[in-house]
Amino acid sequence: MAYYMGIDIGTSGTRAIVIDAAGKLHGVGTATHTCQSPHPLWSEQAPMEWWEAVKAAVPAAVKAAGIAPSEIKGVGLSGQMHGLVLLDKNQAVLRPAILWNDQRTAAECSEITERAGGASRLLELVSNPALTGFTAPKILWVRKHEPRCFEQAVKALLPKDFIRFQLTGEFATEVSDASGTLLLNVTGRKWSTELLSKLDLDASLLPACYESTVPSTQISAAASAALGGALVAGTPVVGGAGDCAAGAVGAGIVKSGIANVSIGTSGVVFVHADQPMTDPLGRAHTFCHAVPGKWHNMGVTLSAGGSLQWLKNTLGHPESAVASLTGGDPYDYLVAEALKAPAGSGGTCFLPYLTGERTPHADPFATGCYIGLTPRTTKGHLVRATIEGVCYSLRECIEIFRCMDVPVSESRVTGGGTKNPFWKQTLADMFGQPTCSLVASEGAAYGVALLAAVGTGAYKNVEEACEATVKTCDVATPIAENAAAYNKYYPIWKDLYGSLKGSFKRLARS
Ligand code: XUL
Repeated sequence: MAYYMGIDIGTSGTRAIVIDAAGKLHGVGTATHTCQSPHPLWSEQAPMEWWEAVKAAVPAAVKAAGIAPSEIKGVGLSGQMHGLVLLDKNQAVLRPAILWNDQRTAAECSEITERAGGASRLLELVSNPALTGFTAPKILWVRKHEPRCFEQAVKALLPKDFIRFQLTGEFATEVSDASGTLLLNVTGRKWSTELLSKLDLDASLLPACYESTVPSTQISAAASAALGGALVAGTPVVGGAGDCAAGAVGAGIVKSGIANVSIGTSGVVFVHADQPMTDPLGRAHTFCHAVPGKWHNMGVTLSAGGSLQWLKNTLGHPESAVASLTGGDPYDYLVAEALKAPAGSGGTCFLPYLTGERTPHADPFATGCYIGLTPRTTKGHLVRATIEGVCYSLRECIEIFRCMDVPVSESRVTGGGTKNPFWKQTLADMFGQPTCSLVASEGAAYGVALLAAVGTGAYKNVEEACEATVKTCDVATPIAENAAAYNKYYPIWKDLYGSLKGSFKRLARS
């Protein structure tokens, strides 16, 4: 029998899965990563820690599947987007990876916009504005602040492509992840030689760029040995995808009209586009899809599940203690608190800007806040307001798509953050439209396992693979009373950022 492996290098951990050609899940292996923030606004990880996690997760997934490694006919790679890994001429890692939620590059974003010839010219070249999370500003930051490191750098890789290098010995990427570097001509689906030259960056710093289904590399003998033989040398490795596009393939978002809302550390609203559609204000991202010849738009809330995780770590000790006694999930106990508060949390509003914000504000200095506290505010109000604040922020993304005439009539929710159905119901109420889950809710790893199946010939194309394998379930329909409460509070919530923007800057400078 033929099996396919998907490996996702997430922020909090690596997940490897084994599926068959019908999309049935056979095995899962996981391992966690640590994250460092050595300075305010910085977010870094050690790339070799990802490789150690892959070496643990891949054999665990194959063992759980109970199959022979030779039965795995293709591997797909996914990962957190935008991270910068720099390698020297001996292919050693030069410094910790600078991650997607790192906010140190405000000055470099201005420099890129200026060198490109202004914001509109930059949009013409790469379809996106310069945002602090993207990769190109990070490269410029290293050039300016760590010149010795920059001089030694011969390759700049994205997280999953660093793992591809460990697995195959090849330097390669694919268009969906490459879109988030700000160095890809997204319309032409190739590196932007024009922007590279305006930024004085050598094109040789970047790997070869393929469509996401192309089996451009193969597992090496050295990697097979490092994995204890869990993958056989010569197994094809397809391009794969950045975690957003990968998650969207896993959710069957390969045609217009349906949004994938994924909630991990970040929250992403993702829609398919047959043509590259650019928001003239640059608020939504315009990236290549993992479906060859297609694109997508997306908006990103940087701290989505991350906000609730922060709340659990700061105020959720009782819930965590109960969960450790019962073997339950601390988040379920927190949500039980949230359910004691009404929709709208009695006017308590939460702004989820713990690590700044991407869509729509592109503001590295924004910080998280609760507004509307009174002596009547309970813990339940705070928990509910936290979840609602994230969902208001995701609603802002949907509204940008509506302004761009991108139709969205239905949503699918995915991601580790959405295990508790309260998230799905809140999104349905917030968006005023049906929102469902997926039968195989394996997210990005599932999407790239499907891309591996397509790239090695099990399916004619990605659309056919999704049609055969992706099944939805458990639809939440909007509850009128909750939707009315959110419609009442949303404009108030939305105005809060404008009122606080100046204070966020002053606080950052203080
Ligand atoms: C997408 C983004 C995040 C990361 C995290 O633009 O920055 O969703 O990919 O995994």
